Amino acid sequence: MQAIRIEGGRRLSGELEIQGAKNSILPILSAAVLCGGETVLHRCPALSDVYAALRIMSALGCKCRLKDGDIHINAEDLCGCCISDMLMRLMRSSIVFLGALLGRTGECELSFPGGCELGPRPIDLHLSALRAMGTSITESHGRLVCKCKGRLHGERIALSFPSVGATENIMLAACRAEGETVISNAAREPEIADLAAFLNKCGAKIIGAGSPTVTVRGVNELHGCEYTVMPDRIAAATYMCAAAATGGEVLVRGASAAELEAVISVMQQAGCKTAETSDGLFLAAPERMRAVRNIRTSPYPGFPTDAQAIVMAALTRAQGTSVFVEDIFENRFRHVDELMRMGADIRTEGRVAVVRGVKSLSGAAVVAPDLRGGAALCAAACAAEGETLISNAELIDRGYDSIETALSALGAKASRL
Ligand code: UD1
Repeated sequence: MQAIRIEGGRRLSGELEIQGAKNSILPILSAAVLCGGETVLHRCPALSDVYAALRIMSALGCKCRLKDGDIHINAEDLCGCCISDMLMRLMRSSIVFLGALLGRTGECELSFPGGCELGPRPIDLHLSALRAMGTSITESHGRLVCKCKGRLHGERIALSFPSVGATENIMLAACRAEGETVISNAAREPEIADLAAFLNKCGAKIIGAGSPTVTVRGVNELHGCEYTVMPDRIAAATYMCAAAATGGEVLVRGASAAELEAVISVMQQAGCKTAETSDGLFLAAPERMRAVRNIRTSPYPGFPTDAQAIVMAALTRAQGTSVFVEDIFENRFRHVDELMRMGADIRTEGRVAVVRGVKSLSGAAVVAPDLRGGAALCAAACAAEGETLISNAELIDRGYDSIETALSALGAKASRL
């Protein structure tokens, strides 16, 4: 087991370049399988979820090479369309290979995906949309056997919830389908627009990605391309919150204010000053922030569930009482018990967490409960007096390209054990 050690109580200050977006590169890697040919991706973060995707792609017959932040993929020849249970369990995003493989080969066999424990994470919306497009899906012994006769066909799909993964799977499958697919109530996350930009560069015809209605006109052929993955807005929020927790300041190069509007608004209410520069996003925090009354997670452009734990960590020392409502996932307060070991005062009931600001946090031995919860503990540790040891750091590595190096660049005393 790996752990991150942070000697807290130092004001963070400095700048860093933001990594490529985890939630963008994962669907783009599966899109590279759909498109075939040669693809080169730039700004690729070194994440364990990226390595997991590369393992899946290698098992499918793609040749992949990761070097200096670039991934070279040759997806010309596939040797199969089955993904083993072991590989599927490596991460939640393994499910986006479903749409890609159906689009490319018309068949696919896989099992339910793994990923962080955030409560139930069904894939019913993915499956019902793909069924509507002509896929027969049978479930047996935990495996999903998916087949379509000939090509999939375009369809009008109204999602009952703007699921990110379902929107991506439908877009991927629809690129090679016959006719037009219109997704209404689609997820609007910037990573959806990034996936569409990649696919369009490979010859797809997608319009409206990033809005509630996405239209995909199926094409006969796709090819590889060279593409730079968008910067990671959640990693940017993490480093801003870590700096804010210590009353510090940070310039996150590459981050954009438009994509982080909901988080910036909360940080401003807490008393932080923010500015967008030609380089990125700057945030300066007061010595002690003010509490924020109502932070409710919702689909983009609302406040992101992925930033909930991280902002909570920053507000544990704020003056007054902050209230968080988690509306996306049922079980996303697992970081709370760990923050309380560090002296935070938090009560939860169902989907609500009430955070009474304390004067100071103290270092403790804590366990990362999931990816973002683990990052939140790192942010809190930077502000805490004394040493914090965050174990289960492997979970943090799913989404952060060496979080301890990034925090050290801002002046934290952070290392890996
Ligand atoms: C993506 C992000 C994840 C983020 C989440 C919500 C990636 C790789 N991951 O996950 O970081 O936390 O969006 O912003 O991009 N749901 C259903 N049925 C479905 C699909 C989803 O009920 O078929 C529900 C889920 O249980 C959850 C909610 O919809 O409560 C959001 O899920 P979704 O948007 O699909 O998240 P992911 O794509 O898994």
